[in-house]
Amino acid sequence: MATKSDTGKIDEVRQAADRLNAESRSADELMKGITLLLNQQMLKYNWAGFYMLEAGANPPVLVLGHYRGAMTPHTRISLNQGICGAAASSGKTVVVDDVRKDPRYLACSLETKSEIVVPIFVDGQVVGELDIDSHFLAAFGDEDRELVEYCAQLVGARLKNG
Ligand code: SME
Repeated sequence: MATKSDTGKIDEVRQAADRLNAESRSADELMKGITLLLNQQMLKYNWAGFYMLEAGANPPVLVLGHYRGAMTPHTRISLNQGICGAAASSGKTVVVDDVRKDPRYLACSLETKSEIVVPIFVDGQVVGELDIDSHFLAAFGDEDRELVEYCAQLVGARLKNG
């Protein structure tokens, strides 16, 4: 259950994401800014990064883009691997409250306890995703999901419209 202060913080960060979108000169700059914003302002978002589908790759592969947080060994992820692969192949947000209990999970850091991965769409097609890891169990409630989905939508719109 989100507290009032969580809600206030989430609204504040959503508005900051809008400002970033207005100020960014490209989708790439927006993505960089979003990783910084989410990692710095949302206390439980210990790793925030983008994985984008490589253009023309067959079979498809997700490639690590901008991120903030610890270095990850997973710089390229197939669609049949990990929580990341599950979100990209299904086109649905995946929330994992306890990564130790999800056999799909690809470990990046021993400290990670929960994760959310949100697909990014352009013209109804998945083009990538926004991935957040937390050192806390069940860190991502409904409001977090809405915030991360909102950020993913901003990026999808910028990728389409420039
Ligand atoms: N845990 C992800 C891999 C990416 S790292 O979290 C940064 C997964 O299971 O797909």
